[in-house]
Amino acid sequence: MEWWEREDLRYGDGELEFAGRRVEDLAEQFGTPSFYYNGRRIVANVQRLHDALTGAGLEGRFAVKYAMKANRFAPLLSHLRASGLVGIDACSPNEVEHAIACGFAAEDISFTAGSLSDHDLQRLSRIRGLAMTCDSMSVIRRWGALGPGREIGIRVNPALGISRAQNDKLRYSGTNTTKFGIYREQFAEAVALARQYSLRIKKIHFHTGCGYLTPQLDLWDAIIDSCLWFVDQLDTVEIVNVGGGLGVPHVAEDAPLDLNRWAAILARHFRGRGQRVEIEPGDYIAKDCGILLLTINTVEKKLETVFVGVDAGFNLAVEPAVYGLPFQPLPARLLPGEKQTVSIVGNINEALDVWYAGIAMPPLTEGMTLALINAGAYSSAMASNHCMRGDFKEFLLV
Ligand SMILES: Cc1ncc(COP(=O)(O)O)c(C=O)c1O
Repeated sequence: MEWWEREDLRYGDGELEFAGRRVEDLAEQFGTPSFYYNGRRIVANVQRLHDALTGAGLEGRFAVKYAMKANRFAPLLSHLRASGLVGIDACSPNEVEHAIACGFAAEDISFTAGSLSDHDLQRLSRIRGLAMTCDSMSVIRRWGALGPGREIGIRVNPALGISRAQNDKLRYSGTNTTKFGIYREQFAEAVALARQYSLRIKKIHFHTGCGYLTPQLDLWDAIIDSCLWFVDQLDTVEIVNVGGGLGVPHVAEDAPLDLNRWAAILARHFRGRGQRVEIEPGDYIAKDCGILLLTINTVEKKLETVFVGVDAGFNLAVEPAVYGLPFQPLPARLLPGEKQTVSIVGNINEALDVWYAGIAMPPLTEGMTLALINAGAYSSAMASNHCMRGDFKEFLLV
């Protein structure tokens, strides 16, 4: 069995199937580049989080807020809303309004972002019921001036960060000083500022990095421990939001995150405490529910390397190029023959436009359909029109 194989993603008679459909059929009907999201898989991912947290003893004390920055495709958001299992983590006024347009109530939305303008704050302030988290002194002051006496969250920075395989680009906190949250050294000042505007600090929030898997769980333990220091400075905290960052496998060597161990660590820290726990994953919920279908247009050997060119570039799914996260390519149809090492490259005139450098693949020919897996998060949501090659389609499969 291949590492990526599962019930809704596998070969049957040499044809790749996703969400119960033949991938080649999808490409024939709707063309490429196109994203497909499996609605059942995304709900199953959320349900797995619920089961782990409930199993660890946190039943009735947790909420899952989907980080919609991962994928804001409206049908997907409405589908998640209909599941009744998630609220939303939003990071811009437009995201908040989009979530509401997709069926979420303002009370289900937790807002956390930095570098907010006065205009942003005014827009947010008009939305009744929105749970605001302030990640800087500046926002505490300006939010307090707009509406003294409200409840707020404060994002904190424990100077410890977590990420897949110690990937620096995915770490939000750590040895380098980052823009996120309030450090311990300035926390007393932040609390005093909140008091000045009679803001009640109801939530402590932290998110320290992305993509972490089982090898990083000891660090996860240490980060929670360190963040509870902030909670213990106050007697008003009712919710602790521990962020997102839970990862999914990208290569054969990545074992899936041990979710029960992850939840047990969380539950151990919150045993005997009065606070409720919020989590706000994006990747874990959306990433493996999506594939990106492409068409191979060029197969050519240059010196010792066989390049396989496709009809989309890194601008439609930036993670392989920007964060060094490989997306496994799978041919829609398996042709007989030996595997060959190839490099899969895109149609953008940039050196970093490489989907996968040096991967052993079954025979690939011009005109074939290729699927990239793990394209459900931070792909379409971050797509740009670079080189005016920004066109793509999206479909929710239910
Ligand atoms: C504040 C906050 N919460 C949650 C997330 C979601 O992270 P992930 O998709 O890794 O779970 C992010 C990602 O940037 C974030 O900044």
